[in-house]
Amino acid sequence: MRALTWAGVNEVEVREVPDPHILNDGDVVLRVQRSAACGSDLHLLGGYIPFMERGDVLGHEFIGEVVEAGPAVRKHAVGDRVVVSSFIACGRCWYCDQKLFSLCDNGNTNPSITDALWGGTPGGCFGYSHALGGFAGSHAEYVRVPYADVGAFAVPEGVSTERALFASDAVATGWTGVDLAGTGPGDIVAVWGAGAVGQMAARAAILRGAERVIVIDRLDYRLVQAESVVGAEVLNYEKTSVEAELLERTGGRGPDICIEAVGMEADGPGGQTLYDRTKQQLRLQTDRPAAVRQAIHACRKGGTVFVLGVFAGVVDKFPLGALVNKGLTVQGAQMHGQRYIPEILERMARDEIVTEHLATHVLPLEQGQHGYDIFKAKADGNVRTVFAPNG
Ligand SMILES: NC(=O)c1ccc[n+]([C@@H]2O[C@H](COP(=O)([O-])OP(=O)(O)OC[C@H]3O[C@@H](n4cnc5c(N)ncnc54)[C@H](O)[C@@H]3O)[C@@H](O)[C@H]2O)c1
Ligand SMILES: [Zn+2]
Ligand SMILES: [Zn+2]
Repeated sequence: MRALTWAGVNEVEVREVPDPHILNDGDVVLRVQRSAACGSDLHLLGGYIPFMERGDVLGHEFIGEVVEAGPAVRKHAVGDRVVVSSFIACGRCWYCDQKLFSLCDNGNTNPSITDALWGGTPGGCFGYSHALGGFAGSHAEYVRVPYADVGAFAVPEGVSTERALFASDAVATGWTGVDLAGTGPGDIVAVWGAGAVGQMAARAAILRGAERVIVIDRLDYRLVQAESVVGAEVLNYEKTSVEAELLERTGGRGPDICIEAVGMEADGPGGQTLYDRTKQQLRLQTDRPAAVRQAIHACRKGGTVFVLGVFAGVVDKFPLGALVNKGLTVQGAQMHGQRYIPEILERMARDEIVTEHLATHVLPLEQGQHGYDIFKAKADGNVRTVFAPNG
């Protein structure tokens, strides 16, 4: 079959790779209908997560049709349209029992790298390097889905494929941050990043009853979406002082909950970003945490900062003093798709969550390089490039 694969730093190529087959009784094989490029892929392609090998198939946000089901699969049959959680979880271990699916003890079949790096391994992830299990990704004609009864979900008939696709990763990620941060009625929530993840975090906060939700970015075309489709207030950090404006909009107190949906390649005003870039290039730190720093600084005393952006390793100039002296709670997580996708699909069916606008470019695999280039450069109004491997 044809697949879009990693070919070196910021390079992808279409290759012929072996067709996937059922390996374990609980697997299904999907014919991929749509597979999106996620901000996490940019970190991977950029070489910041250095455990890719040439020819590895990319892609972890996807939807498809079941073409083969293992003998132990109960919930899915050939012909079903299913959306799949990007993180792979067994559904049976202690972490899965706690509904912390992305921390599954069995999802990552190659835990040695992450055990050494982080002192423990998260679950596996499709198309996300040998550090997270070395699973083939979904930018391909077909993909094998392990633990299909746990991680794959039937899509209600009325929900469009372009909408359900994003339940796989971006929407579930937003939902994870908003839920685990304890967002509820009356809260003022600020979200850094107006990509698919930030927009969907904002939407989740609104649906959870937050009183005000403010999305921060520099890209006006994304902020327009956050305002008009998602229903959030917006703030352009190149045109306004973020911290002063957040104080102004919160009666001088600061947001109750600050959600960071930017990640390790953050830009930002001021000299700190240049400093971060230089240290990152010299491999003296792995990540550029400009938005995390700002979120911690802007958060009200006693508030919560939730880091949804992906970070790989160590940072410096981390504002530990603000954290301690302002009594903040700082959390982070990879998304627990298995926990939130059923509710997300129900809300999608009721038009409470709309995502079609995120799929700004729908392309064949053959245009993979162009698709990633415009996503990386945020060119041509791109929010998400979505591949249609089977037309
Ligand atoms: N935790 C998870 O499970 C999970 C899942 C999916 C994605 N992610 C991560 O979430 C992050 C966002 O993903 P995405 O797909 O929306 O990415 P994206 O690249 O489309 O969007 C990132 C946005 O952040 C903005 N930005 C950059 N610097 C900023 C700053 N200092 N302040 C405010 N905004 C800034 C950019 O302009 C861009 O619009 C990435 O780090 C990605 O890896 C995490
Ligand atoms: Zn992702
Ligand atoms: Zn598990």
